Amino acid sequence: MLQLSDIQSTPEELQQYYAELRAQHITPAWIGGGITTEPRSEAVPFVWHWRDLRPQAMRAAELVGTAQAERRVLRLTNPKLPGTASNTLVANIQIVMPGEIARAHRHSGAALRLIIEGRGGYTVVNGERVPMSPGDLVLTPNWSWHDHANDTDAPMIWLDGLDTPLVRMLEAGFYEEYDQERQDFGAAVNASQWHYPFSEMRAALQRLAADTGDAGAGIILEYTNRVTGGPVMPTITCHMQLLRPGEKTRARRRVCCTNFHVIEGAGYSVVGEQRLDWEDKDVFTVPTWTFYEHVNTSDHPAFLFSFSDAPVMKALSLYRDETKS
Ligand SMILES: [Fe+2]
Repeated sequence: MLQLSDIQSTPEELQQYYAELRAQHITPAWIGGGITTEPRSEAVPFVWHWRDLRPQAMRAAELVGTAQAERRVLRLTNPKLPGTASNTLVANIQIVMPGEIARAHRHSGAALRLIIEGRGGYTVVNGERVPMSPGDLVLTPNWSWHDHANDTDAPMIWLDGLDTPLVRMLEAGFYEEYDQERQDFGAAVNASQWHYPFSEMRAALQRLAADTGDAGAGIILEYTNRVTGGPVMPTITCHMQLLRPGEKTRARRRVCCTNFHVIEGAGYSVVGEQRLDWEDKDVFTVPTWTFYEHVNTSDHPAFLFSFSDAPVMKALSLYRDETKS
């Protein structure tokens, strides 16, 4: 009859065996664990307030030039992670002052920009000039040339989202500088496949909100890739959610990490055990497999932008999604 084997050895025998293994760079898999019954994130729920972020971005603009910093970027750092907001995705604040450029380069990491402040600056993506206005989403997919310029008289500030922690973990990162500081671009300023104006998204959400809708889910739309119809980029999907005045969403958890940005509105989210209060332009992070619910405490609609690594999880058959009834 087949059965589990019960072998007795002395602690000394085991210690000596483990020491030999260590010397040969071999690790016994039965000690040290490593398996959890469900995902447990190193990251913790956290909110960064605009009232703190904006002055520090302005201070960076006083202290560091774009000739010194390849990008003048403040990385929002999760209290439990080394320098990133979430496990696979960074959420950063970038500032470009009037008259400044951020030079052209490209990299394996995919990036998105969600414009927070400033109107009329632009990003050039593979030779296409993409205008930037508050609430707009601008994509720079992986390995696309991009540079930024501010030809207005006010600071341009935006949220950067990138998959660089994932690319680093996969050891797949390439980086290259363009042979000029800026890319040439045509005279026309067209809505391009890399640009999703907020005006269009806002109008679409408000049309949906006028219908009854599901009060527990909020009104949420996914940005789609204009070529594939799928997520905007292979590693990142973006959503915009409208929370009606007083609306409270049902608690939900998913296998993906998500960073939220409050375009406008006031309320709070309960994320795991924590209550994160938010208002205009704040950023907060929801770790994987952590229940979260949003509450709009104001008498105006709230608009929440979010980006997550769900496409990665889905591609690898790791995605799960659960809503509390
Ligand atoms: Fe870049």
